[in-house]
Amino acid sequence: MELNLKNKIVIVTGGAAGIGRATVAAFEAEGAKAIVWDMPDVDVTNVEIINAAAEDVVAKHGRIDVLVNNAGIVRDAQLVKWKDGNVVSTMPDDVFNAVLNVNLKGVFNCTRAVAPHMIQGGSGVILNASSIVGLYGNFGQTNYAAAKAGVISFTKTWARELGRYNIRVNCVAPGFIATDMVKSMPQNILDSMAGKTPIGKLGEPLDIANAYVWLASDAAKFVHGAVLSVDGGLVMGT
Ligand code: NAI
Repeated sequence: MELNLKNKIVIVTGGAAGIGRATVAAFEAEGAKAIVWDMPDVDVTNVEIINAAAEDVVAKHGRIDVLVNNAGIVRDAQLVKWKDGNVVSTMPDDVFNAVLNVNLKGVFNCTRAVAPHMIQGGSGVILNASSIVGLYGNFGQTNYAAAKAGVISFTKTWARELGRYNIRVNCVAPGFIATDMVKSMPQNILDSMAGKTPIGKLGEPLDIANAYVWLASDAAKFVHGAVLSVDGGLVMGT
């Protein structure tokens, strides 16, 4: 299988940890040049910084071949927490806004900054991080689930708008992935996540990284506007 990723210029947002870090390593293993956009220097919510960072990559490397919109945060809270006939709490505005800002607006900011350079260069690949919860919702994740569903909408819209410029756009919907943060959870929670997954175990960051690498490669040159579940059968199993 010809991946043809050697010397490709790949930006990975949130590339300093978790799935992003594995993605950087997986692209570099294929001979690509991976560039990390992560906090504190490159904040995907800051339009000026992102526009300047895209210009900087083009000035240094001449082009941008792949953008992986991976940066994401969670801030969970129920829409309404109700007890004994009273409202205990609701999801605060700042909690809603913070997650939408990084997980949805951040993806917009980065893609808007990078796409003109890809058009100019005559090709490109944009890959977005959705989630299983963007497909079926999740208790306590009004903000996160809405953002991840929005990312699927971005993917389909940009596939329609950018395909004519030879820019492919796809997204990945990971299931439960054993990042350092997930692995630090109590064993009974980890067992319950694995138990809900038809394949019987959690995924590894490399499972998602490999999906990004394949989607970015020439082997996937006719895959466009797709939502690839990489979840051990979790969505199917719900
Ligand atoms: P993580 O928390 O391990 O890493 C996220 C990275 O994003 C960190 O390096 C962080 O500094 C960076 N980041 C956060 N805010 C940023 C900002 N404003 N600007 C730039 N970088 C920022 O997360 P993980 O688990 O590796 O997740 C990566 C992506 O995959 C996220 O979009 C997440 O929603 C998605 N995902 C993860 C799943 C999992 O089980 N770990 C499941 C489904 C989706």
